[in-house]
Amino acid sequence: MTDQYAVIGNPIGHTKSPLIHGLFAESCGQQIEYTAIEGSTSDFAGDVARFKAKGGLGMNITAPFKLQAFELATQPSERARLARAANAFKFEGDAVLAENFDGAGLLRDIEHNLGQPLAGRRVLLLGAGGAVRGALLPFLGAGPARLVLANRDMAKARVLESEVNDPRLLLSTYEDLVGQSFDLVINATSASLTGELPPVPESVFANAALAYELAYGKGLTPFLQVAKKAGVNTLADGVGMLVEQAAEAFEWWRGVRPQTGPVIKRLTVPLV
Ligand code: ATR
Repeated sequence: MTDQYAVIGNPIGHTKSPLIHGLFAESCGQQIEYTAIEGSTSDFAGDVARFKAKGGLGMNITAPFKLQAFELATQPSERARLARAANAFKFEGDAVLAENFDGAGLLRDIEHNLGQPLAGRRVLLLGAGGAVRGALLPFLGAGPARLVLANRDMAKARVLESEVNDPRLLLSTYEDLVGQSFDLVINATSASLTGELPPVPESVFANAALAYELAYGKGLTPFLQVAKKAGVNTLADGVGMLVEQAAEAFEWWRGVRPQTGPVIKRLTVPLV
């Protein structure tokens, strides 16, 4: 039987994961079958168990199951623990190994694909939800000069700060960002999903080299529009992150690192 993998989410109709993993497998000469499963919101554990019982070797997990996936894991990685969320499983006997590759995928896209290393740079991260939780450890590991996290709900930001417990992570309200300057500005809020703009002052973009929007396929979101107007050179959405996190999972499962460039190129929709 061909090695079985799947992505599970709800809804799952628009997932790009089978296409991405299919292209990876083809380019690496690997035989795998990768399907999409619409998970039941009342029986996520049952869906996972059934896939595993059929001989499934690994899964990607997407909304709204990433937190439940973490709870189900028997061996979560450190970054999955900090995020309290998992986006990939590997099944080994009875063990459910869990990983969170979202942050590593984002970091790789920014540094490798977009050519903007974090080391020594001033980085502003907007939001304090799941996406930011996943990004904090990889970002701090990349050695930024400053990593500032801004969120509307400061209590939520302070919880994250205490969990990370790293003096290089600084918190700010949106108002206090006025007059502060950054090299990289990353929107990890969910504001763009509803066409909203986080209350970020335009001045944060004055000297920025990159504005990155984690949402993908939304075109020039209000956040990217403000950045463009402020003259930021490189504008990006999360398509590269999506492909890079998939590549991390593929390598974890198969022991081979796929080329991501051609896949990103194929999925990229111009930001207009
Ligand atoms: P995700 O898992 O996608 O990160 P989440 O955990 O629900 O989603 O977190 C959403 C984040 O987007 C939160 O940080 C939220 O800010 P608050 O904690 O202050 O609510 C942020 N967010 C959502 N809409 C926003 C908006 N219009 N402006 C600013 N931040 C917004």
